[in-house]
Amino acid sequence: MDKELSSIHYDKYLQLNKILDAQKLRSVEFDKPAHDEMLFIIVHQVYELWFKEIIHDLNSVMDLFGEEVVQEKNIGIAISRLDRIAKIQKILVDQIEIIETLTPLDFLDFRNYLLPASGFQSFQFRQLEVSLGLKRDNRISYTQCAYSGVFSQKEQDILSKLEENDSMLELVEKWLERIPFLNFDATGSKEGFDFVGAYKNSVANMLELEEKAINNADYIGDAEKHLRLKMLGETNTYFSSIFNEEEHLKKIKDGELKLSYKATMSALLINLYRDEPILRQPYMFLQKLIDIDELLTSWRNRHAQMVLRTLGKKIGTGGSSGYDYLKTTADKHRIFYDLHNISTLLIPRSHLPVLPDDLKEKLNFNFTQK
Ligand code: HEM
Repeated sequence: MDKELSSIHYDKYLQLNKILDAQKLRSVEFDKPAHDEMLFIIVHQVYELWFKEIIHDLNSVMDLFGEEVVQEKNIGIAISRLDRIAKIQKILVDQIEIIETLTPLDFLDFRNYLLPASGFQSFQFRQLEVSLGLKRDNRISYTQCAYSGVFSQKEQDILSKLEENDSMLELVEKWLERIPFLNFDATGSKEGFDFVGAYKNSVANMLELEEKAINNADYIGDAEKHLRLKMLGETNTYFSSIFNEEEHLKKIKDGELKLSYKATMSALLINLYRDEPILRQPYMFLQKLIDIDELLTSWRNRHAQMVLRTLGKKIGTGGSSGYDYLKTTADKHRIFYDLHNISTLLIPRSHLPVLPDDLKEKLNFNFTQK
């Protein structure tokens, strides 16, 4: 039986007594009150609350993608939740402006009372990174200890479990691998369609045109032409790994790529044929993941920049080199790098292999087939 509805006061519903009683200034505790410590605490608390919402939304998307079959309507739900996460992240980046009103001298008034507390000990931030797909082996470490060593045993166990389970990146990889479009080869289409062969020709044509354009350019000298042709040749190596599964596998082993060959092919197809109505939602979904990755990188860069301004080259309260460590994480801790990289593989619409009619019809599939 449903519980009988009862009324509730705003204060009680939001448990404001707990939240508003949670700003204990250490500078006051040590009889050296520092006005700006209040801001420092509140900004961090607000971040942690938003992290909570982000994890809540992300978990729900992961649950949808953890199902054996991903219902098409759930892709729409996933897109809206990822979109919400991205909007929150924008606020998180913007909030750095508020913490920057804390000047380096004001910070020094209470910094010593914080030691060794640091955002490095934010459990929710680590939960988020691991859930998205950041692997232990790919982390930049600045101490001999594992990143998780700063947490209680219970928290470490939660992080280990998260690391063992499929991350968002892995769930997306599996989903991409299941897309029926890929299993549709020359024998599957009455008209016959060998996507890789057709795409290969289009790429060759496109590169040939680019080569011609460089050779025929009037305003570029021979040395510059030589350099540009060399660079064009280097772009070619990206294409070669999409033409050759073995090469793709080697790049995964060398840590250059993460997504399997099959998943990468699917992501490429979705991007190339995104104007097909059935591929619109999957395309938007992949775009949202890129947004989230990009915004996390923006936050890392912005936070590093703010740390440089506030601390200069001082080490952090958590014991890292500070700015240098944080700047490196912005480059190295990206998760959906392979999805960004798909842009390298795109060709103009005018070069796009035309899909046979029966394949177009098959695209009316949903993504629920195994
Ligand atoms: C005056 C303001 C701030 C300063 C000077 C600062 C400084 C630092 C430094 C130096 C680190 C590197 C670890 C260490 O050695 O401590 C760090 C890490 C971190 N900080 Fe901040 N921080 C500030 C504000 C914030 C805020 C408002 C947040 C929001 C939660 C935050 C979240 C983090 C996180 C999550 C890390 C770990 C980053 C990683 O390991 O990739 N920080 N911070």
